[in-house]
Amino acid sequence: MRTHKSNPSHKNTKPQKKGGKPQTTGDQGLIRLNKFIAHSGIASRRKADELIKAGFITVNGQKITELGYKVRPTDDVRFKGKKLSGEKPVYIVMNKPKDVITTAYDPQGRRTVIDLLGGKVKERVYPVGRLDRNTTGVLLLTNDGELTRKLTHPSSKVPKVYIATLNRPLKKRDLQRLVEGIELEDGKAVADSAVYVDPDDKTKIGIEIHSGKYHIVRRMFAAMGYKVLKLDRIKFAFLDKKDLPRGQWRFLTQKEIGFLKMIAGQQPINLKDKVGKQ
Ligand code: URA
Repeated sequence: MRTHKSNPSHKNTKPQKKGGKPQTTGDQGLIRLNKFIAHSGIASRRKADELIKAGFITVNGQKITELGYKVRPTDDVRFKGKKLSGEKPVYIVMNKPKDVITTAYDPQGRRTVIDLLGGKVKERVYPVGRLDRNTTGVLLLTNDGELTRKLTHPSSKVPKVYIATLNRPLKKRDLQRLVEGIELEDGKAVADSAVYVDPDDKTKIGIEIHSGKYHIVRRMFAAMGYKVLKLDRIKFAFLDKKDLPRGQWRFLTQKEIGFLKMIAGQQPINLKDKVGKQ
């Protein structure tokens, strides 16, 4: 076994402050091994450190147990012999149309959100969380496993805003019940806020919720005897679908990526003050 103090071919690496920013060094493109592993999607950076310490990781055929070790994106990094891909992280926001599946691959051959990228993204991105086949609206896609895990963790407070169109007007009492909480088979579901979008049309409800549980919005309404005819997600965190026609997508800006990472880290910020309203 070899435990590098440093990789001789990667000498130019700047020392990193503890808890500091990601560690790429310009031209060389070196990144910390734990970050490379996190990008591959198999573990968070913290877990990746455990895998490294435990001796499960090899770089170019050598077992590496040093935590601060840095690699090139082209290095051969393996976990228990399986090659990992440390692709450049890519972040995309899409306005998902109906009749499209939120998975990377559908064995039944139905159209997926990845098909909508039209082969223009070579990195292996996947959706962050799920929208039902017939739910439309804002969907984040990335190949950043660590960010995905943080944003989709049950403790995540990332707000999502939906407009639900119901089969009949929602009673005022039932609007309140959404924020008081509704007992579902897997526990109580609570909306952060719920409003009539148009006071003259009580079938259209704006609902903000941070739970990412399966069918959560439809199940909440179903528990009160309403059917959701249409469901559109208008916001995921601060991301909206402004200037993004249905079925279209775009890469996030560096600023948006920074915001998302900050939110994923659960830094207390007031989203409404930081970004435009829908
Ligand atoms: N809640 C639902 O019921 N469906 C979705 O697609 C998203 C949230």
